[in-house]
This record gives sequence, C-alpha cells and structure tokens, in this order.
Amino acid sequence: MKTHNAIGQMALLAVLCVLFAVILAPLLGQGSSQPPTPAHPWMDRSLSPDRRADLVMEQMTLDEKIGLVHGAGLVGFETTPEEAATGVLARSNGGAGFVPGIPRLGLPDLNMADSAVGVARSGAHGRYSTPLPSTLAEAASWDLRLAHDYGALIGRELRDQGYNMALGGGVNLTREPRNGRNFEYQGEDPILAGRMVAQLIQGVQEQGVIGDIKHYAFNDQETGRHVASVNLDRRVMRETDLLAFEIGVKESNVGAVMCSYNRINGDYACENSYTLNEVLKKAWGFKGFVISDWGGTHSTVKAALAGLDQEQPGSVHFGDALKKAVEAGAVPAARLNDMVHRILRTEFAAGIVDNPPVPRVVDVFGGLEMAQRFAEQGTVLLKNANGQLPLDAGRVKSLAVIGSHADVGVISGGGSGQVDPPGGNAVANAQGNTPGTEADAIWGPGAVWHPSSPLKAIRAKVPKAQVEFADGADLSAAAALARRSAAAIVFVHQPSSEGRDLSLSLPGNQDQLVSAVAAANPRTIVVVESGGPVAMPWIGEVNAVLEAWFPGIRGGEALAAILFGDVNPSAKLPVTFAKSEADLPHPRVPGTDAQEFASIDIGATQPTRQPIPFDIHYSEGLKVGYKWFDAEDKQPLFAFGHGLSYTTFAYSGLQATPKEVTFAVKNTGSRAGAEIAQVYVGLPASTHEPPQRLVAWDKVRLAAGESKRVSLKLDPQLLSIFDVEKNAWDLVPGSYKVLVGGSSRAIALSASVQIP
Ligand code: BGC
Repeated sequence: MKTHNAIGQMALLAVLCVLFAVILAPLLGQGSSQPPTPAHPWMDRSLSPDRRADLVMEQMTLDEKIGLVHGAGLVGFETTPEEAATGVLARSNGGAGFVPGIPRLGLPDLNMADSAVGVARSGAHGRYSTPLPSTLAEAASWDLRLAHDYGALIGRELRDQGYNMALGGGVNLTREPRNGRNFEYQGEDPILAGRMVAQLIQGVQEQGVIGDIKHYAFNDQETGRHVASVNLDRRVMRETDLLAFEIGVKESNVGAVMCSYNRINGDYACENSYTLNEVLKKAWGFKGFVISDWGGTHSTVKAALAGLDQEQPGSVHFGDALKKAVEAGAVPAARLNDMVHRILRTEFAAGIVDNPPVPRVVDVFGGLEMAQRFAEQGTVLLKNANGQLPLDAGRVKSLAVIGSHADVGVISGGGSGQVDPPGGNAVANAQGNTPGTEADAIWGPGAVWHPSSPLKAIRAKVPKAQVEFADGADLSAAAALARRSAAAIVFVHQPSSEGRDLSLSLPGNQDQLVSAVAAANPRTIVVVESGGPVAMPWIGEVNAVLEAWFPGIRGGEALAAILFGDVNPSAKLPVTFAKSEADLPHPRVPGTDAQEFASIDIGATQPTRQPIPFDIHYSEGLKVGYKWFDAEDKQPLFAFGHGLSYTTFAYSGLQATPKEVTFAVKNTGSRAGAEIAQVYVGLPASTHEPPQRLVAWDKVRLAAGESKRVSLKLDPQLLSIFDVEKNAWDLVPGSYKVLVGGSSRAIALSASVQIP
C-alpha cells in the first residue's frame, strides 16, 4: 500500500516536472537543465556578431546605450555621486574596470583586469594568479607558439577569476630604452613586437575573454605621459610604432584598443582623429572598440568624434555630458550607435555573452610549469667567455651567490601590471620607486620580489657543494666569499615600474659590487634582473652574463636550469643594449627637466598639481633601436638579435627572391639547441631608410650536428615604405640587400634581389 502510494506520488511529480519543463520554464527563462530556448532573437548563436549587436540595439534606450560607453568607476577611486548612489559597483569583480551589463537584455557586466604579465592584483580578493616573466622575456624567445601559450594562460586565469576582459597586450616600441614600462612591452622592432603581441592576444581571446592592445600610441616613455605631445611625421608613425600596432591588430582580431595618455602631434591620443578614425578604424578595418586609458579621456564631443568608444574608469566625459551632446546633436546619434555597436559586437564575437566565465581555482601547478618554461626560453646568454657556462654540477665544489636578495626571490615589474606575490613580498620593505614620481604616488615605494629563490634552486642542483650567500651590501665581504669559492654568481637588478623612467645604470653599489667580485674571482657570472637594457661598465671583467629580465614565479628554478646546462639558452635580445646613455638618441629621457609629474590623475577629474605640457621631438624618427646604432655607426654593448647558446651554429646556401629567402642552419656543436635565424633587408638608397630592418625569422631546433633548410616568405608590406602623399605603402623598385644571420650584427650570408 505504502509502495503503491509512493509510486503514485512519483508519477504525479513526474507529470508536474514535465509540465514545468515544457510550459513554465521557457516562460520564466530558468530552472531547466536543458539549454534555454533563446529568449531574445540576438541570443541566436548562428547569427553574426554584427547582426546580434544590431538586434539588441533596437531594444536599447538612450540611457542604456550611454551606460555601455563608460566605466562605472573604480573602487577606491572617484566615481560621480550619481554613480555611487546606484550601488552598481558592488557587482564588480574588483578589477581595474567595470561596465555594468543590462540584465533585461541578457547583456553581461564587463569585468576587466590588468593582465600584462599575469592577472594583476588578485591578492586583495583572496585569489591567486601566476606571476609570469615579463613580456619582454616572452619577446626574447622570438617564439610565436610560446607567445600564444603565454596569452592563453592569462586568458584562462582571467576567466577562472571571473573576468571577461583583459587589459594587457602592451606593444609600445622600445624607442626610449629607459622607459619604466618596457618590461610590459615587446621590444624595439615593430615586426617582432607586432607578431608576438598578436599571438599573445590570440591566446587570450581563444579562452573566451576580450583581449586588448595598448597603449595606442607613442606612449614610449612615462616621463610626462599625461601631458607631453609626441610630434612625429606620418611616415615615421606608420613605419615604427603604428606598424607594431597594425600587425598586432590585424593578426589577432583584437577586441579592444586602449588609447594612451599622451598627446600625438598636439591632440590627446584618446581624441586623435588621425590615429583612431583614419588609421585604426579606416585603414586597418578595426571592428572592435577603443577604450581610454584610465583618466585618459579629456573631452566629450572631440573624443567621441575622433573615435573613442568607451571612457574609463568613470563617466566624466561619456556619461551625462555625452547624453546631452547627443540630444543636442553635437555628437550624432549614429556615432553613439557606432560606439555601442562596436562594444556589443565584440562581446558577441568573444563569446562572453554565450559563455560567461565560471570562477574556479586556477591551475596553480600548470601555471608554475609554464612560468618556468617561459623564463627558460626568454633568458638571454649575453656573454660566455672561456666556456664558463654551463657549470658542471658533477664537479662544482663551491659557489658564491651574491646580491639582489637571491637568497629569497626575484624582482618583478611594478605599476598596474603588478602580479601579487604568493604569500606576500619575499623582501620586506623593498625599495624601488623614487619618491616624488607618479609611480611612488600611486603604487608606493616598494618593489615586489616573488618568492622564487635562486640560491635554493642552485643548492638543489649541487647538494654536495658548498654554496654560500652574501647580500652584497658589504663589498669586501662579498669579495672574500668570491675568493674562497670556485666560481661566483652575482645577481644585479634594476627595479622598474609604470609611472617613472630609469637610467641605464644599475642603482646603488651594484656596478662596484660586480667589479669587486670579479677582481676576487676570475670565474664570475653575472645574472641581470631588469625591465630592459642596462649598461655594464664591468663587462670586460666578467666571464659570463645572463639577462633574466623579470623572470617570474619560477625565475630562480629557470636560472638554475640554465646555469647548470639542463636547459640550453636560446633567447635573443628584442632590444639593443647601449654601452652608455651617450650613445642613445637622447642623452636624457625627453622632458626630464621640463615637466612636473601630475599627482594621481587616474580617474580623477582634477589632478591636484597641474603638470606642465611639453613637446617630445623623437628626432631619431625611423631610427628606433638598432636602426639608430646602424645608421649612426655606433657599436652597441649587445646588438638587437644577439644571444648565445651552449652550442654553435653555421649558416650556408642562401637563395633569395623578393618573395622568399631560403638558407641552411647547422648545429656545429655537441649538444642540441635552438637558433633564432634572422633575415634583415636593406632597402634601396633612394628610400632613405635606416641600413637594415628585420623582415622575418625562424627559431630552428637542431640536434647536435643536425642541419635544416629554412624557407621564409617575405611580406611585401614589410619591404615597403609608407608614402604619405599616396597615403599607402609603397614597394620601391630597386636593389634590396638580403642579410641572414644570428643577430643584427652577426650577418653570415648576404645576397641582392631586384624589385622591378
Ligand atoms: C595604465 C593602463 C592600465 C590602467 C588600468 C593605467 O594607469 O596605463 O595600462 O590598464 O591604468 O589599471
């Protein structure tokens, strides 16, 4: 009886369930485990992103449209009282940017996090993200697949933490080697930088996250970034920094472009019709949206008409002011619709509407492994005299490890891209930023050290050897340790951060430290942790130098693997190292004397101190990086493209046409290794170009004794100059030199090709 009753109840329940599923659930739009029937026509995934954006826009009110074209403020920074009153920020995921979605239309919130070298500032939310080596290290790998993996890791960790948009993809050229943000970028060559950043962004976006590329454009130094006007002619613009962006945008289909703080030829980058409307949107066909750097919007009508699509982080210019401008006809409704369309089509294209992030614990162990691989592939062996490296783990009896807190960690880059160190800063009260700089005002004085101890990793390789540490503060103590050790490894570092620039010199007593150690022990190895190039007045005194950049959370382990030869270094410099600042195009960072820093103006309507505007004349023009050293016939400390291996390579058999270059690379040493084979082209003299430009490369992996033929296609645009009159790229007829080798200054093969 009881059983019978139970069966009857179950049957009734089943009928009710079916009834609910078939009739009620679709009406309520919830409760079914089946994918919901598309409630709105724009939820039909078979339609194009543009069509879906159009459909949803038909249903939107003016206020809803305005709500999408600006951020809703930033916790801790100013929001308008009206915005604050809505309380909508409470919905934010806590990242640098938040744009509330429109629930009634099924449009998600946009949650953006800084993510130049990993998801930044997760710690405040109790989350963890993998601190990666700097993107300059990633660029030093010259490995497109690696750049892709790097981006994919960031995209995954963004999603895992509930973000659906990245703020990374920095690709400002290293025009100014003392730029404090070079570590977030991809080096000095537009083709290398553009291709690497495109892969990185593809990797991010394949995870279902909107990617961005920044800072568009010519934010090539931090000094005066809020006020300075970078004045360049159009040919120079298109062939240098803009070319990196062009390749990055076109090859990645990036969703967002962040316009920069500075002015370009007088107009702020976020209200510059030439760079935004004419070049980015018209010439390159960019379909995504332009987002301002934080506090980088300076007007309503001018910015809207020039092509800015979204103000961040607040609504000073694109909130009520824009609504009024649209109502008054000063900004056509069609332009507002274009902004909204660009944002929505990007959301549909990226998949964030159909497939929102589901927070979960990030893959910590997978991330650590990848961070180590990136560091191993990005560390450049600059010098290796007397076969000093690799160290022989079987024979080393004693080692001195000196300086740079190598007992506890590795340094990282500061500013908005800072990834939080797991467990906190490995160095308490670490100093980094100079008082009075914007960096110090916003992010404080400290540099962050990640807890990856080179000392421990080295000891693990040679557990029986005597490996001792000296902090380097006392030069004679360091020298004494070096003297009683079989070899000495000196770690030097240069802190760098957004919001300030640098000198090429290592801070403090580090140059003296290297010299003191080298004088005590001829087998001295220097490991440099820096955001970019540094001068090495002691280069002739030491046997070996490794450039480790900011090597990330497995930096210590990666360095040990290279020092002991478990990994054969294969990276090459994406930037030129000058001997001294006197060899740079500008003896000092332009504007160093002229300007006064704004206090915090991120998101603030009124900077508390008015900075003084000034002009930057980058008189080197086309001659960025190695092109300057080549054209001026200056000998660099280490040339662009330089990097050694524990094996050696030989080049032969060059065949060149205007379309393709073929040659052979042979591993002539006794161990497996990878060579980054580079192709440069010298244009006809009539073009007045610098002597050579990189046009192609390949990373060739070779077993000992192995030889491979490499064929590289030449893209005609990359052989061209930008003709301002025709407003187009021009492949000038004439004789072109084709140069092949292991660096811009180690050309092994050359030929001439004729372009009719
Ligand atoms: C930086 C951007 C960053 C933004 C948001 C700005 O200071 O220049 O790179 O994405 O802040 O944090």
